Amino acid sequence: MQFDQLKQEYLKCNKCPQLCDSRIQVVFGSGNEKAQILLVGEAPGSSEDKQGIPFCGMSGKILNELLASVGLSREDIFITNTILCRPPKNRNPTKEEINNCKSRLDQLIEIMQPKVIVTIGNFATDRIIGKTGIKTIHGKVFDYNNIKVIPVVHPASYLYSGRNPELFKEMKDDFKVIADLAQEEVSQKNLFEF
Ligand code: URA
Repeated sequence: MQFDQLKQEYLKCNKCPQLCDSRIQVVFGSGNEKAQILLVGEAPGSSEDKQGIPFCGMSGKILNELLASVGLSREDIFITNTILCRPPKNRNPTKEEINNCKSRLDQLIEIMQPKVIVTIGNFATDRIIGKTGIKTIHGKVFDYNNIKVIPVVHPASYLYSGRNPELFKEMKDDFKVIADLAQEEVSQKNLFEF
């Protein structure tokens, strides 16, 4: 299965009746599909549902700042969500919806073969490594099928905190870990291919 095939298949997905009724569109993902870094958020919000691009609203602005703080841009990553459709009134995704979107994310990872996966918030972290408690585990490195996984605090939590500068500093530190790890993984790959 190729990237475009997977995308076309899921752009017309109708596995979750309630989400199909309420969504404007399926938000498959954006960025560089050949990137070494895959970011996984929770679910599209209102701006994402309108524009069809993950993290294009307020949380996205914070995310862009975090990426820029370590010299990365949206072209250096691919970004998607645990589920591809906006839940009504931004409620949490249900277990069933996460499960309905599971093979899509598994297949995306299989196709992209990223070196690093960044899970944004508890839902994505639970989905990929079966762990929650983001306040304790953010910035630590986990393994998922030989891919390095780094959970990070969701930018929405930073917004809810009233833009707490200490929290933002911690979030930037986690992005430094991500950038260093991606660099290390790419250097290793180049070494083996040399
Ligand atoms: N929050 C998410 O988790 N994903 C988005 O795409 C936007 C906001």
